[in-house]
Amino acid sequence: GSTESFDNVTQIPSYACQRRTSLLHQNKEITDALEILALSASFQGSEARSLAFARSTSVLKCLPFKLQSLQDVKDLPWCGNHCKRVIQEILEDGVCMEVELVKDSEQYQSMKLLTSIFGVGVHTAKKWYQEGVRSLSDLNNNKRKLTAEQRAGLLHYKDLQQHVTREEAEWVEHLVVRALQSYVPDVQVTMTGGFRRGKEVGHDVDFLITHPKEEALNGLLKKAISWLESKGYLLYHHVKARSQSFSKSSTMDGHETCYSIVSLPNYYKHNWDCEAEETLKNLDNSEKETSHNWRAIRVDLVVAPYSEYSYALLGWTGSKHFERELRRYSFEVKKMSLSSHGLFDNEKKCLLPAASEEEVFAHLGLPFLLPFDRNA
Ligand code: GTP
Ligand code: MN
Ligand code: MN
Repeated sequence: GSTESFDNVTQIPSYACQRRTSLLHQNKEITDALEILALSASFQGSEARSLAFARSTSVLKCLPFKLQSLQDVKDLPWCGNHCKRVIQEILEDGVCMEVELVKDSEQYQSMKLLTSIFGVGVHTAKKWYQEGVRSLSDLNNNKRKLTAEQRAGLLHYKDLQQHVTREEAEWVEHLVVRALQSYVPDVQVTMTGGFRRGKEVGHDVDFLITHPKEEALNGLLKKAISWLESKGYLLYHHVKARSQSFSKSSTMDGHETCYSIVSLPNYYKHNWDCEAEETLKNLDNSEKETSHNWRAIRVDLVVAPYSEYSYALLGWTGSKHFERELRRYSFEVKKMSLSSHGLFDNEKKCLLPAASEEEVFAHLGLPFLLPFDRNA
């Protein structure tokens, strides 16, 4: 099949969703370098250049061998002259001068710092950079208007910079399940995002929530949030309501979503009973900040109606590049619009229901890929 190991690079298909990309591969030095160039291009507002670097990076991630010479990339899709120059320099010198210069540049460093704050995107970071912001203290000192999300991002910056381990993600899962099950005992909760793709660490923990009966989901997220809040687990949250108005052919996503920061008590590592909750509840936020027996973790909760579940699961499992490529493939090759809500056939003008991720791949005429193989 087309997703078997590629002995001959000319067999490598052009869309990332047609290839298996596991977490580990043999050319990390080179892909790390290209990822820096992709990020730098996006910081400069060059989306097309950023995308081009992302595509070449992704192709190299699925190569089953370590690159030895430029001959190896001669026939690879998306591997243009710029990418080849980077590869050649790294093969010859171990580093690429352009990448080193980018890493050393004030703009790249500041943009990377600012965009790493929860609630700060490229647009805001760029504006701040142009206004002279270079460090986090520049943000704290200036009487700059920050959103509630950004204030929370700054307050918990150190914790949120640390990777979330799988073990921590599983504690959060236990907590989220408890919160939801206290209202709907047979609710279905699935950990999505990077952890579902087999990553051992993440920048957050993502959950998808569903139930066969749509009524069971009404108001559930709000109730679970109140439950978490009343027990002192929520450091920050904001809810994006479900948007009813998304059109069938749109690729926009409108699931009810909670973006949150949860506090995970350290003593939970040793003690699974609920007494710790009482202690936590009685600390106010500033005490929590100084006591350090807890840690802040970013958590995303997404609610999907059962009928859209397979699409939401596929859409929230990632990787981001895999999702982007899957949508591009759907549109360009199959004349279909894919979103986390469904798949719309633009020629037959109809929605295609799917009871599993496998069925979605089948609608698209693609060989099924397990989450582990979606690390494009
Ligand atoms: P880390 O969290 O960094 O470990 O990686 P991740 O792959 O889990 O990234 P992230 O949590 O940012 O996103 C998980 C998946 O959800 C990705 O595939 C994204 O494309 C998708 N995603 C993130 N935000 C949104 C959103 O607002 N809407 C939709 N539909 N998908 C999103
Ligand atoms: Mn994630
Ligand atoms: Mn997320």
